[in-house]
Amino acid sequence: MKQRIEEVLEEIKEFEISGLEKAEEFRIKYLSSKGLIKQLFTQLRDVPNEQKREVGQLLNGLREQAQTKYDTEKGNAEFSEDADGGMDLSRPGDKIAVGSRHPLSLVRAEIIEIFNRIGFTVSEGPEIEDDWHNFSALNFPPEHPARDMQDTFFIQKGGEGQEELALRTHTSSVQVRVMENSQPPIRTISPGRVYRNEAISARAHCFFHQVEGLYIDKGVSFADLKQTLLHFAKEMFGEKAQIRLRPSYFPFTEPSAEVDVSCTICNSKGCNVCKYTGWLEILGCGMVDPNVLEASNIDSQEYSGFAFGMGVERIAQLKFKVNDLRLYSENDVRFLNQFKSGI
Ligand code: DAH
Repeated sequence: MKQRIEEVLEEIKEFEISGLEKAEEFRIKYLSSKGLIKQLFTQLRDVPNEQKREVGQLLNGLREQAQTKYDTEKGNAEFSEDADGGMDLSRPGDKIAVGSRHPLSLVRAEIIEIFNRIGFTVSEGPEIEDDWHNFSALNFPPEHPARDMQDTFFIQKGGEGQEELALRTHTSSVQVRVMENSQPPIRTISPGRVYRNEAISARAHCFFHQVEGLYIDKGVSFADLKQTLLHFAKEMFGEKAQIRLRPSYFPFTEPSAEVDVSCTICNSKGCNVCKYTGWLEILGCGMVDPNVLEASNIDSQEYSGFAFGMGVERIAQLKFKVNDLRLYSENDVRFLNQFKSGI
């Protein structure tokens, strides 16, 4: 009996467990209820009494060794099969959420592209602006209502050697900065965020986005302005798009106009977005007031120019048929995911 135990012990030591299948084979052969070790335990009955204790101990040792070997080798096999053998290369990978560009970025990029193609560069200015660039240089009289706290977020009071600072209320401030730093010909657009002290609703927000345009050279006329804007409307909304100009007033342009584009949502038939007029206002524009040119050291006798400012949200609204302004800044992925494929 002792010899038999020795033999089995040798066998166990030499048994190579090289995978989960082999481990199972080992378990069945030695450790299962019908396995070799169990059988040896049954034979213990026939061992003479004086040897029972010794043989019993040997058998227990044998069982322990077999169990330890099985546990360790099975663990190893499981680990290595997980690491490589268990890998299924044909399984689909984990999904990675792909981001997308914000609808306002898409529209801004398209506006820039359209104007780039006709020779406009891009210029930018600060969102925290002084009184000169946001108002005075643009010919706003001191008592103009836009300078009121009700409309503008002032962030630093003026006086005693301190400049008055506010969040810019329009990108027209960048016009002034460009004119101060360069001489005509100037052909530039200035995209950016602007701020106004307004209650947030579907139709108004305390911040939104504009693209300013400025063209100054010798002999620039109102006809150039009109044609440039018609070209823009057709590039942006399609060949069928029409524009109309309505006389208006801005301190920094003379004459001034507001521009409507034919409603793309109802094809000018009339809908609730265009309030059944067939037209939607998209921008303000005009010929740069000589006072504005002079304030930035440009000779108004020699040069003339036009300027315009459009709302990016308004263009996006037409492009994507989105009616509620708040959606653009709420960052709801269910909204943002809809713009994956671009324009
Ligand atoms: N700054 C104006 C606004 O915020 C828009 C505007 C109107 C810009 C006429 C211009 C312009 O450059 O010529 O409503």
